[in-house]
Amino acid sequence: MRMRKKKNLPQRMEKAASVLVTEPEALRGRWREEYPGYGRLFAELGCGKGSFTAGTAAAEKDAFLVALERVPDAMIMAMEKAVAAELANVRFLDTDVARLGEIFSEGELDRIYINFCDPWPGKKHAKRRLTAPSFLALYRTALRPGGQIHFKTDNAPLFAWSLETLREAGFTLSEVTEDLHAAGPVGVMTDYEAKFYAEGKPICRCVATKEDA
Ligand SMILES: C[S@@+](CC[C@H](N)C(=O)[O-])C[C@H]1O[C@@H](n2cnc3c(N)ncnc32)[C@H](O)[C@@H]1O
Repeated sequence: MRMRKKKNLPQRMEKAASVLVTEPEALRGRWREEYPGYGRLFAELGCGKGSFTAGTAAAEKDAFLVALERVPDAMIMAMEKAVAAELANVRFLDTDVARLGEIFSEGELDRIYINFCDPWPGKKHAKRRLTAPSFLALYRTALRPGGQIHFKTDNAPLFAWSLETLREAGFTLSEVTEDLHAAGPVGVMTDYEAKFYAEGKPICRCVATKEDA
């Protein structure tokens, strides 16, 4: 995401600091202890401006949602949405998804959301896609048995490629669709998704489950 630098970013970050976790490694294996009272622990990878983050935290009050984003100029908007909505069950990490294993212990997560990740077209950069095998191995470790990845994209080639990588990584696929909103809007939309939906662009979605074995 190309994002214009925000001049007043430090001041805005300070104002929204209540929803930022600055040392997430210290909570590895302890997220439930630190934030008790939630039945489930979710992570969202690359939350961007956070409409989905705030909407999901509001809709899933029994879950605690940890949103990762490596561009603070986008993440500040997500943080401000969470603060404005007074959401207690969401926190933000200014970090790269590649560090997931340092942040969550084995089996700690119930669900991972990947929404409209950068497609990185071309074989040369395929490794950078958030559904590339090396990332899927990280997610598999962090998810509990039965845990799920919920994946949405507007990019049909990326979707087809990801169905393969997910299968090869041992996930079971369900709810596979190449036109999620064919019969009207479904679920909480992300910022990118709302834009694509308004343009009439079909949205692909699937759920990938880590089986018990
Ligand atoms: C295309 S945007 C989608 C944003 C949001 N999920 C949505 O659907 O509106 C992808 C976002 O993922 C973030 N991102 C991409 N790769 C990342 C990584 N390795 N670690 C953390 N964030 C990442 C980008 O900075 C960007 O904000």
